[in-house]
Amino acid sequence: MLRPEPGFYEAVHRRVSRRNYLLKPAPGHDLDELEQLAARFGEAEPEIRFVIGREGADRIFQGRAGYGMIEGAISFMAFIAKTDHADTLLRIGYYGEWLVLTAMKLGLSTCWVAGTFKRAASEALLSLAPGEELVCVSPLGEAVPEKTLKEFAITTLMGSRKRKKLGEILPETDPETLPAWQKTALECAGMAPSGINLQPWRFSVNGDRMRIRIAEGKSRGTAVVDCGIAMLHFLVGARHDGVSGIWTVAPEPYLAEFVPDRSASFSTSSASQMKGGPDVQ
Ligand SMILES: Cc1cc2nc3c(=O)[nH]c(=O)nc-3n(C[C@H](O)[C@H](O)[C@H](O)COP(=O)(O)O)c2cc1C
Repeated sequence: MLRPEPGFYEAVHRRVSRRNYLLKPAPGHDLDELEQLAARFGEAEPEIRFVIGREGADRIFQGRAGYGMIEGAISFMAFIAKTDHADTLLRIGYYGEWLVLTAMKLGLSTCWVAGTFKRAASEALLSLAPGEELVCVSPLGEAVPEKTLKEFAITTLMGSRKRKKLGEILPETDPETLPAWQKTALECAGMAPSGINLQPWRFSVNGDRMRIRIAEGKSRGTAVVDCGIAMLHFLVGARHDGVSGIWTVAPEPYLAEFVPDRSASFSTSSASQMKGGPDVQ
C-alpha cells in the first residue's frame, strides 16, 4: 500500500520550480526514500518507470541556453513511459508529482522539465529499453537559498506565479456554490505546475464527483501530464478537508473523474484507477 507521510498539503503550497542548485548531490537517505517510492509506483503501475539518479544531472542539463536552463544540479529524477497510451502520461503526471511533493517535504527542490534538457545524452545515461519514452526529467537537490536573477527572469517570462481564478478552471459552475472540500481541492489543483504555466486543466461538477478535461485548444505539449499533476493536487486538497476518493475513468472529452469515498477504502482493482489516493494527506 502506498502511504506517504502527511504534509503534502503544505508541500503543494510551498512548491515552486527551482533552476539553480548548490552543486552537491541530494543526501543519500533522501534519495533512498524516493527510490523506494519510485519502485513501488513501478510495481503498482507497470506502464511507468521512474529513475532516481544520484548523479549525472550535469549530463542531462548542461549546456542548454535559454528558457529554463538548469544549473548546479547533480541528482535528478527521470519520468519514463513504457507505453504510448494517453493514460500513461496522466500517470506520469500524477505519480511524478507525488515524488515532487515528497522531495519538497524532504527539503529538496525540483523542476519538471519536458523540453530544456539534452534528450540524446539523457536517454543514453538512462539506458532506455525499446519502446520506452523519456517524458520529463527534474533536477533534485538543494537549490541556492535565494532565487538568482536568471531564475527571476525565467519565472517572470513564464508568468510562473500567476494562476487562473477558480471560475476560469471551473467554467460552468459558480465556485461559490461548491461544498468546501471541492473548493479546497480545486484551489490545490490550480496551484499545480504545468508546461510554460499553461494550466490546461478544466473541471466540471458531476453531482458530488468532479471531472477533469483539457481546455479547448490546449491539448498539445505537456497537457496530459499537467492534468495528471493537477489530479494529485486535487486529491491532496480533498483529503485536507476530510474527503478521500479515487480518480477513475470518465467518458470523453474528460480524462478522469474524481469519485469521493468517505470510507477511505483503498482501491486495488482496475488498472484504469489511480491507486493510492486515500493515503495522501
Ligand atoms: C510537464 C511540465 C514540463 C515543464 N517543462 C519545463 C521545461 O522544459 N523547462 C523549464 O524551465 N520549466 C519547465 N516546466 C516548469 C514550468 O515552467 C513551471 O511549472 C510553471 O512556470 C509554473 O511555475 P512553478 O512550477 O514555479 O509554480 C515544466 C512544468 C511541467 C509541469
